Order: sequence, then C-alpha cells, then structure tokens
Amino acid sequence: MKQVSQVAQLKQEIAQARAAGKRIAFVPTMGALHAGHLSLVDQVRNDDNFVIASIFVNPLQFNDPSDYENYPQSLGVDARLLSDRGVDLLFLPEPEAIYPEKPNLITPEDIESNVSLGLEGEYRPGHFSGVLTVVSRLFDLITPDIAVFGKKDAQQLALIKSLVSHQLATGRRMPLKIIEGETVRDDHGLALSSRNARLNPEQLEIARTINVALGACDGKADAESAIETAKSMLSDEIKLDYLEIVEPATFQPVSGDYEGSAIALFAGYVGQVRLIDNREISIKGR
Ligand code: PAJ
Repeated sequence: MKQVSQVAQLKQEIAQARAAGKRIAFVPTMGALHAGHLSLVDQVRNDDNFVIASIFVNPLQFNDPSDYENYPQSLGVDARLLSDRGVDLLFLPEPEAIYPEKPNLITPEDIESNVSLGLEGEYRPGHFSGVLTVVSRLFDLITPDIAVFGKKDAQQLALIKSLVSHQLATGRRMPLKIIEGETVRDDHGLALSSRNARLNPEQLEIARTINVALGACDGKADAESAIETAKSMLSDEIKLDYLEIVEPATFQPVSGDYEGSAIALFAGYVGQVRLIDNREISIKGR
C-alpha cells in the first residue's frame, strides 16, 4: 500500500491506476480505525478497483473543540490495518492540502436537500457544513467512481447522497456511485465507533443499552409507544440528546399514525463521550 500526503503525487497515482483500466473507489475516514471502517473497504476491494482510503481528522466538522482535541489517533496501526485489508493507497493529507485557502463552506441549504436538518444538525451546529465541505473537497481531489459510507452515520449518509445528486444535476461533478455499508457492532450489539476507545469498562456496559433500546422500537404499534419503551430501556446514566423515529427518506419525525419502515435514531453522552446509533425498524400501525 502506498502512502501519499501530497496532492501532486496523489494525482499521479490516480492517473496511473486509470491508465491501467481501474475504477477509483474511495473510503474516507478520520482514522482510529475499527472493524466498521474495514468492512467499508471490503465492499469495494476487487480486481476492477483501485481502492483509496483517506485519514483526515477534519477540524471543520467538530463543533466541540475538546472533541477535536481528544479525537483518538493511531496512524501506525491504521496504516497496517488498511494495508492488510487490501487498500491500494492511503491518502494522509495535511490541512493545507484540503484547505489551501479559507474554506468555501458547503452548507446543507446549498445542496437543496430534503433531508431534515434536525437531529445531528440541531445538536451539532455547523457539523454537516464541515462534513459536506470536506467530502466535496476530497471528491474533487480523488475524483472517485465509487465512494463508500456507513449507515452508522445515517443522516450524514443521506446528506452526502443529496450532495452528490445536487452536484451531478448542476454539472459540478462526474458520475459517482455511493455505496452504503451496514453498521458493524460488537458482540453485545454496541455499534463500533472510534469514540468507544474512550469508554471505561463500566461505561461500555452503559453504552450497550443503546442498541437494546433502539431494537425494542421494532414492531411497535406507533412511534410514541416505541420511543417510550426505548427510553425506559436506556441506562439512566446516559445523558440523552435525542431518541427519535424518522422517515427514511427525509429524516422527519414520523407522525402518530405512521405505519411502515422507519429509522430509530439515538444520540447522547456516556460520561464525556458522545455516541450516536440507529436501527432500521418497522412501525406496525394501531
Ligand atoms: P469516521 O467517523 O471515521 O467514519 C468513516 C466511515 O466509517 C463513515 O462512512 C462511517 O459511517 C463509517 N463507520 C463508522 N462506524 C461504523 C460502523 N460501526 N460500521 C460501519 N461503518 C462505520 O464519518 C466520518 O469519519 C467523517 O464524517 C468523514 C465522512 C470521513 C468526513 O470527514
């Protein structure tokens, strides 16, 4: 696996891969890698693809400076994991490569998405602008044919799909296929997250109630009773930001008489660590 920090060298490697008839498949990350990230690599690693992973802890998407400062970093281990998994090139940009000048922010409003800006948008002001801006910039540099994102960050994934649709429709980008990765969990159902590394054993037990609570929403007659049941199953030690049931296409909370597929989403704090998770569920109807 090659490691590249400079944009000029990145472009050269990409040109070579294209000349060899390969498609460019891209897996963006912020490092501190776990099996969830690596499962995204598995989705695109095949003989047709030249797989590029990136590690860049994007300052723009951290609304909380202490979260940015405490974000775990493990570059040596990460590089070995990616190499073992069959990644062809690891892009490790310096901030200047990504933001050579004052970033031209892409806001969720700019991309005319019908995805709600509540939930993470409400609790992490500026977060999605930071995500959209960095993802668009990385797409510009890497010009991927395929990019993979996890359903663990469901609202992020929906907004990135909107970003790509908007950029395609406005002629700003060449066709790009977004592939979705299922959420990888530990043996107790806790969604893997780089932030889990900051939980002590007691906090891990507390965090494991999140998945149980979300799972309990499935098959309930209505959203209200589902949310009530779920909240009663969450550990009292968790400081909740939100537990909502939303429509999959818009991320708008479902109405009382809603029936069908939905997503149950959680965000909250275990100690100082903010975790998010979600499950695809079905609301049966009354
Ligand atoms: P990061 O949190 O490092 O996640 C990188 C990718 O891994 C995202 O697509 C995320 O949804 C996926 N992922 C995280 N946990 C997962 C799990 N348990 N199972 C499956 N996939 C999982 O998300 C970001 O970085 C950033 O916002 C980024 C898109 C890189 C832009 O900076």
